[in-house]
Amino acid sequence: MNILLTGGAGYIGSHTAVVLSQAGHEVVLLDNFCNSQKSVLGRLQKILDKVLPCVEADVRDTALVAKTLQDYKIDAVIHFAGLKAVGESVEKPIEYYANNVQGTISLLEAMKSANVKTLVFSSSATVYGNPQYLPIDENHPISATNAYGRSKLHIEEMLKDIAISNSEWKIICLRYFNPVGAHESGLIGEDPNGLPNNLMPCIAHVAVGKFPYLKIYGNDYPTIDGTGVRDYIHVMDLADGHLAALAYVRNHKGWVAVNIGTGHGASVLDIISTYEFVSGQEIIFQIEGRRNGDIASCYAKVDKARNLLGWQAKYNLEKMCSSSWLWQNFSNKA
Ligand code: NAD
Ligand code: UFG
Repeated sequence: MNILLTGGAGYIGSHTAVVLSQAGHEVVLLDNFCNSQKSVLGRLQKILDKVLPCVEADVRDTALVAKTLQDYKIDAVIHFAGLKAVGESVEKPIEYYANNVQGTISLLEAMKSANVKTLVFSSSATVYGNPQYLPIDENHPISATNAYGRSKLHIEEMLKDIAISNSEWKIICLRYFNPVGAHESGLIGEDPNGLPNNLMPCIAHVAVGKFPYLKIYGNDYPTIDGTGVRDYIHVMDLADGHLAALAYVRNHKGWVAVNIGTGHGASVLDIISTYEFVSGQEIIFQIEGRRNGDIASCYAKVDKARNLLGWQAKYNLEKMCSSSWLWQNFSNKA
């Protein structure tokens, strides 16, 4: 298939580009580089031994997106492009709705005009809000506590309406849990503009001495050791999940949402000790107060992904931490 990856130069998009291209798909990237570097294109070329076409554009440029869909005879779109920092979304809701919701509307208009009706959308476990039960299945009530989460909720609902309006649409929303790690080459990884605030990149910064210590946001949660528990998933597993989702959605009309996680929770202390083990570095930490908006535990029920997509995660915490460490060393030198 010919597949357009909006936000394809970003963290998850670049890893998915590798998997799709290696599986024989023709991949085209579209990105405005607001949270990625153009150098990722050369690194993808090194991994794949081929150049992936990349259109530098904002997804809100409907005409250019439509032209791209036509020029490359695109069969399906994976829509990664968007802003994703929860804290920032609370301060800049207009930017978040403009980028995420308006960006998706623009993409849908372009897809409609180019008659491309197959879409994989990057959703998030954030749509489950504060979990009412664990593990979280796809029927768990959805809600949002911040503008980022609400933008994902709005998009999911919008996509549902579109699938109802015309039975030609084939749409799958992948609700990612906590993506971490990097490609085994160490050439691509999570490379956000500005300082990280997610756990794994913060630990990596401590390991190489960029941060003096890790702040642990709370050790008084009702969890195994008091620290927050999440369903961390290796980004290469997540990338494989997109390959499986495409294979499924191309043959299934309508709208569906599927969790993409491992089904297992790990605490902050679990991640620290695994990172220390694989890197040989001591991760100095300090216990701080709880972070606003954080929840105690969140992990997925993954039966639907297994049954519908025939996909399940295969990498463990050690692989997640060791690939992050490899990438941290590479990006430190690059
Ligand atoms: P990322 O920031 O690394 O990648 C997003 C890419 O989209 C970047 O390259 C950025 O430059 C581009 N982009 C942003 N707005 C754009 C626009 N208007 N037009 C064109 N390009 C634009 O983020 P990521 O971690 O790869 O996340 C990809 C998607 O997955 C996002 O939609 C995000 O909300 C979702 N998601 C991410 C996580 C996570 O923890 N990383 C978790 C759940 C869901
Ligand atoms: N944590 C720390 N110290 C840090 C960073 C994080 O102790 O420096 C803790 C958090 O308190 C939490 C856990 O590590 O218990 C994970 O935090 P992350 O920031 O890595 O991830 P979140 O689960 O808070 O959020 C992530 C994405 C969101 C997405 C959500 C659900 O950042 O965008 O997963 O998919 F909505």
